[in-house]
Amino acid sequence: MERTEGRETRLVEELGLRYIAPDELGIDHVYVRRGLIYACRGYEELKEAISSGDYYALTGIMPSSDRIHLGTMAVVEAMKCFSSRAKLTILLVADLESLATRGVSLEEAREIALNNHIPTYLALGIDPSRCVFYFQSENPDIHKIAAEAAREITLQEFRAVYGALDPARIVSSLIQIGDILFPQLVRPIIGIIPVGLDQDPHIRLCRDYVRRSVYYQFKQVVGVYLRDVPSLKGEGKMSKSDPGSAIFIPEDDAPLLRRKIYKAFSGGANTLEEQRQRGADLERDIPFKILRFVLKDDSELQRIASDYSSGRMISGEIKEYLYQYLLELMEELRAKIEHYREVVRRREITIISSAKEIAHLL
Ligand code: TRP
Repeated sequence: MERTEGRETRLVEELGLRYIAPDELGIDHVYVRRGLIYACRGYEELKEAISSGDYYALTGIMPSSDRIHLGTMAVVEAMKCFSSRAKLTILLVADLESLATRGVSLEEAREIALNNHIPTYLALGIDPSRCVFYFQSENPDIHKIAAEAAREITLQEFRAVYGALDPARIVSSLIQIGDILFPQLVRPIIGIIPVGLDQDPHIRLCRDYVRRSVYYQFKQVVGVYLRDVPSLKGEGKMSKSDPGSAIFIPEDDAPLLRRKIYKAFSGGANTLEEQRQRGADLERDIPFKILRFVLKDDSELQRIASDYSSGRMISGEIKEYLYQYLLELMEELRAKIEHYREVVRRREITIISSAKEIAHLL
């Protein structure tokens, strides 16, 4: 349905990844149908896992800002897609990485994760009866793997996949390898890791380490990549380090939300007359691209795409549409987040601190 973006196409080819066609996995999810989940590293293992159902889905999110933004929401949505068939879904709080790379204290990270992030994942539809959570700082098992990975991966390899190197990155990367593999301390089982393409270096190093590990018998892990939710500014992706680029969940300040959307980079022509005549360029239009991630109704999205690209709809209208849509979504999410805050407070979710605690689930 969607054309692939130039930069991403180039990257996928250079990195040796494989595209995923919308109909080839046998998974029916809006992100797969729309090509938003679009590439992977480890296609053979991915197919094997999906057909047998013998896999875990795992991803990690840094608690470095108080609320998540639409880019993180997309990762959570991608998790749901692989969760439904997985033996177990694991969502981890990357608090050690936040400390190492952003200087966020563990106490602050904990507070943010319990009050905002985890309730938001649940509000977005992560099923607490199928998913476990953990904090990196509370799971010693990940370090048992990180230690051997440190022995098997050379500095040259780190340099080759990351370019510039610093201790915080190296330590975070080793810990992340521990995250990705620790469920396999229970038994060797394929892991599916839905992430943005920026996380592929970690997946590469992890897969190399799996091949070399002497101490453990791991099965391979699969990186599944989703497209970036674009920055409101038009260049790059939404990022918490640039609040002007991102829409946060929930966004409490409606006028601010409106301003952000109205300022977003548009694919419409300069004058009304030109817009009516030529239609908008959907590949460049940020409000439309954001709609692809948030609007679940395929036929409604299709209608907007055809109206907007033919000039029946103009850029002011699509911005207003997105604004109204998000306002309603935020309203709905706010209530759900409030509800799940209580659920988390009562600890009606599973927070683990070792592989042993998931042994009966795998
Ligand atoms: N490095 C990831 C990020 O920046 C977070 C992360 C930590 C992660 N551990 C992980 C992602 C394991 C996937 C799997 O956002």
